[in-house]
Amino acid sequence: AFLAEVRKDLEQGMLSPRVLNDPDIHRAELDRIFTRCWVFVGHISEISDPGDYVLRYIGEDQFILVRDESGEIQLLMNNCVHRASPVCRAEKGNTSHFRCPYHGWIYKNSGEWNGAPFRAKAYPKIDTARWGLRKAPHVDSYQGLIFACLDPQAMPLREYLGDMCWYLDVLFGLNEQGMRVAGDPHRWIVPANWKSGAENFVGDAYHVQSAHRSLEDIGLLPDAGGASTGNFHVTLEGGHGLIVSRGFLPEPHYGIMDYPSEVTSTFDLTRFDADQREFLESRYTVVGFTIFPNLSLIHAATPPEPGLPPVSFTCLRQWQPRGSEEFELWNWPLVWNAAPPEFNHASYDASVLGFSPSGVFEQDDTVVWRGGPMVGRSAFARKDMKLNFEMGLDGMSDYEPRLDWIGPGEASTSAFGEKNQRRWWQRWCDALASS
Ligand code: FES
Ligand code: FE
Repeated sequence: AFLAEVRKDLEQGMLSPRVLNDPDIHRAELDRIFTRCWVFVGHISEISDPGDYVLRYIGEDQFILVRDESGEIQLLMNNCVHRASPVCRAEKGNTSHFRCPYHGWIYKNSGEWNGAPFRAKAYPKIDTARWGLRKAPHVDSYQGLIFACLDPQAMPLREYLGDMCWYLDVLFGLNEQGMRVAGDPHRWIVPANWKSGAENFVGDAYHVQSAHRSLEDIGLLPDAGGASTGNFHVTLEGGHGLIVSRGFLPEPHYGIMDYPSEVTSTFDLTRFDADQREFLESRYTVVGFTIFPNLSLIHAATPPEPGLPPVSFTCLRQWQPRGSEEFELWNWPLVWNAAPPEFNHASYDASVLGFSPSGVFEQDDTVVWRGGPMVGRSAFARKDMKLNFEMGLDGMSDYEPRLDWIGPGEASTSAFGEKNQRRWWQRWCDALASS
């Protein structure tokens, strides 16, 4: 009944703040969203050699993302099938086997049971095929991004991503060499609900003129107000959505995706179809996206320190639920394998100054998201308070369909709307309502 009310509210441009703190909703999200959707677990460059592994999360469950001896990528639950102890306690490394610290059971890096102390006496008849580590039934990657799905009945990853594949191509497929992570992901706890981050990155360009206004004052952001007028939305099926813009750094030194010529000279546009080439050559750029449920991207250009010229950077970020009132933010700055090292350094520095635990944009954003749990737990508010989601409903704002859009999805003329956000929340309702 509550979900029916949320759906009806969304159609009218409203949302109950209960969704941002309720523990029962949180439990339902773990049961119905994180065990059924394709969830991002890492970048291909984090586990390039056999035996490489990193610890990752789907919802609140911990997994080992590992490349096994045969080169296959596996996602193994990090809990022993004997008494559930975590078998791997290092955040990353390289190993052929995992040995449980409790009684010493040993698993191959493919997850298979491989032995136990005093095996001949203790387990002479164990069914070794039965007692491996639990593993995700589906793991697949697209443009270097690895996703896993815990639902055996899942649709294929490409179908789940749908039209987002087109945009992942233009973001990550600009050359054969591709991108890699610039070190380990940054991670830190934010006192807010994970959905506030996912919703912000799916379409909220409107907050920039206010939340990030001080960055204009100190010279890190040339035109905070331009974020709503210059950016626009692309709405995709499946709750995915993008914030798109048109390059603002001056030619001829800057070109495709706001990269300078020493980087664009490494790009190979013959890899794309005619529409994707037109997108890139017209200097459209993806500023941000959210792939339902909790993976987002920021691709922007800011100075690596005040006073220097802006440098383009790209970060993947994930909103990991930790209870209903906190999330862990994971952030992976990415660099181009074929770009000059000096550019990659400057790009990393620009991303850290803006988006990281100490990031100036990040602090602006995370502090305002605290309001969700506050009002969700308020006895006065939770009964009947509604949040306003009206912007862009039925011509109520300067927000029209962009009829000649060259890419897939429905594009808008500006970011003075909340269609992407409403669609994200509708998808959230669909996922929670599925039996
Ligand atoms: Fe792992 Fe006993 S809990 S070996
Ligand atoms: Fe922001």
